[in-house]
Amino acid sequence: MNVTPELCLVIPVLNEEGNIAPLVACVDAVLQGVAWEIVFVDDDSRDGTRAAIAGVAAQDPRVRLIHRIGRRGLSSAFIEGAQSSLAPYIAAMDGDLQHDETVLPKMLAALRAGDCDIAIGSRYVDGGGIGAWDARRAGMSTLATWLAGIVLRTPVSDPMSGFFMLRRDVFARAARKLSAMGFKILLDIIASLREPPRIKELPYQFRTRVSGESKLDAGVLRDYLLLILDKLVGHIVPVRFLLFAGVGALGIAAHLIVLNAGLAVFGMDFPGAQTLATAVAIIGNYSLNNTFTFRERRLKGWRFFGGLVTFSLISSVGAVMNVNVSSVLFGAAHSSWLYAGLLGAVMSLVWNYAVSSAVTWRR
Ligand code: GDD
Ligand code: MN
Repeated sequence: MNVTPELCLVIPVLNEEGNIAPLVACVDAVLQGVAWEIVFVDDDSRDGTRAAIAGVAAQDPRVRLIHRIGRRGLSSAFIEGAQSSLAPYIAAMDGDLQHDETVLPKMLAALRAGDCDIAIGSRYVDGGGIGAWDARRAGMSTLATWLAGIVLRTPVSDPMSGFFMLRRDVFARAARKLSAMGFKILLDIIASLREPPRIKELPYQFRTRVSGESKLDAGVLRDYLLLILDKLVGHIVPVRFLLFAGVGALGIAAHLIVLNAGLAVFGMDFPGAQTLATAVAIIGNYSLNNTFTFRERRLKGWRFFGGLVTFSLISSVGAVMNVNVSSVLFGAAHSSWLYAGLLGAVMSLVWNYAVSSAVTWRR
């Protein structure tokens, strides 16, 4: 007797208590005759989501729960759910009833028949749609889809879809290269595969949410851009370092602008203007890094100020090292000013990044 389920549905949930029981009932109704299981991956919901899951699971042993604390993100939730299962087919689906479960049997049929490696529920093929989305969200989705084209080597009409099914061996081939950042796990999987997968897109209408609310916010957009960047250059240099360097470049610009304004507009003396410019650059860089570069380790309240102190100290050491190294290169080693200056700056950048990520924004 084969007791491993054939299909594992991984459903990430965050505050979806009202949707759990109806969703399991819908899935059960369309998957009659299929050996399925559902793994809910809950990132520490504040409502009764886990109680609702426990209630359903008490009646149905095919329903399981992974409860994560201090973690976020649909992508990592999907990965953990998929790896907790041995089913040969794995599906990703939202837990808010916005994905049309009647597409599931069609996806499974396409995979069983060997028609494709990944079956995707698409809003952007004939018969699909985005329901009651406003123009802004629709526009963002179009833009994001276009961006995705840069890292995908195979045409996909809806690479943003969180509704798809694939064979376990396809997932396993991608698993070690996944960025696991943010929301867009399908894009991550396809871009991580060495050989472009064979894809079948099945239309569905994105439903309007009835219970609970969307978790989409500005952080999702940032995570998306980071995913694209990681897929492009992540194998060469960590994306976080690039962000840190970008913030540093902004800091240099801010420094020069403030220095110039201090001298020319406010008539300050050079040491005064230079001190002001340095303070603005350090505080600005610290705040930007705190908000963007280390977003998920962000320091708040009093810890924000403690972080500013360590960051300033670390940057000061970096500056001293920068000056010493470049002076030696320029003086004793007779390097050109450009080479000496650049090497000093790059060295302090690497120092600042390495030490502040270990001290100021330690995990
Ligand atoms: N475990 C976990 N952790 N679940 C989460 C998290 C999280 O950090 N954030 C959201 N969820 C769950 C929600 O509870 C819901 O079940 C599902 O993930 C989708 O979240 P929504 O907030 O409803 O997303 P959406 O409707 O805006 O976006 C959906 O549409 C996109 C297509 O544009 C998602 O399905 C995306 O995956 C999909 O790509
Ligand atoms: Mn939703």
